[in-house]
Amino acid sequence: MLATEHSRELASNISDRLGSRLINVEVRIFPDGESKIRIPDDITNDIALVVHSTHPPVDRHIMQLFFILSKVSRVASSIILLIPYLGYARQDREFLEGEVVSIKVIADIISSYNIKAMLTFDVHSMLALSYFKMQVHNISAIPLLADYFINDIKVDASNTIAVSPDTGGASRVEEFASIIGCKYVALKKSRDRVTGEVRIDMDSTSTTIDFKDKVAVIVDDMISTGSSVVTAIDAIKGLGCKDIYVACTHALLLDNAYKRILGAGARDIVASNTVPSIASKVDVSELASKNISSIYNVIK
Ligand code: R5P
Repeated sequence: MLATEHSRELASNISDRLGSRLINVEVRIFPDGESKIRIPDDITNDIALVVHSTHPPVDRHIMQLFFILSKVSRVASSIILLIPYLGYARQDREFLEGEVVSIKVIADIISSYNIKAMLTFDVHSMLALSYFKMQVHNISAIPLLADYFINDIKVDASNTIAVSPDTGGASRVEEFASIIGCKYVALKKSRDRVTGEVRIDMDSTSTTIDFKDKVAVIVDDMISTGSSVVTAIDAIKGLGCKDIYVACTHALLLDNAYKRILGAGARDIVASNTVPSIASKVDVSELASKNISSIYNVIK
C-alpha cells in the first residue's frame, strides 16, 4: 500500500486491517509549488494499492496522484486505486457552453495507467465515474453515518427527519432515512452557475412533513464552502425543529464552513474520514478494506 502524508491516517487504518506493507510516499514541495515524488521502497512485481484522496489543495493532490501512478504502473504487477474523495466530480458536464468537462480530462489520464480497479466513496455524480475506463466501485458511507446517528447520537426514528439540501441527493437521503427508519425530504435547491449563489425554494418543495419539535438531519455527499448546508438550515430552522444535525461523507470545510454551519444553528457535523477534518467521526477503513479485499482476491 502506498500513501502520501495527506491520506496516511486512513491508509494506515486500512493497511492494519489488511495486513499489508504501508509505504510512505515522500513528497517535496519546491518553492515554485511543484511536487517532487519519491517511492522509497521496492514494489517490483507487487500488487500496489494506492490510497490518495484529492481534497484541497485539489490540483496539487491530483498532480501528485498522476506522478505516483506513472511510477507505480511501470514496476508493480497491478494497481488497485482508492481515491477516498474524488475531486472535480462536480465538473461532470458542460453546464455553460464552452466549459471544460474537467473530470473527463482527469479520468482519461488515470485510465491511461492500466489500473485494475478504482474505488471511491460517495462520488458526487455517477456520470463523473462513467468517464473512467476501468472497473470502478462507488462505495456508500451513508450506512456508517446512519449507524453513528443511531448508536452515538441515539436519534429516535419517530422524531427524526432526514433532509437533503437538493433533489440530486434524494436517493442518498432515502438510503440514510431507511436505515434510521425515519421520514425524509429533498429540498429544491438551485445554484447560480455564474456566481455560485445557492437558493432553496421551500414553496416548491412538496412536503407534508411537520418539523415541529423534530430532530432534522441534513444529509449531503460533501461540504465544501458550507453554503448549501447553511442555506438548508436557514430554510428549515423556522419550521420549529428541536435540533438540527449535519451528516456528510466528505467534509472539506472551506471558508470557515465549520463555524458558519454551527453558527447557523446546527448542533454538530458528522463526517467520515475520507477527508481528514475536525468533523471526521466515522471511520471508513473497515468498509474500504472489505471492498479492496474482494478485488484483491480476484486479481492476486
Ligand atoms: C452539490 O450538489 C453537492 O451535493 C453539495 O451540496 C455541494 O457541492 C456543497 O458545496 P458547498 O458546501 O460549497 O455548498
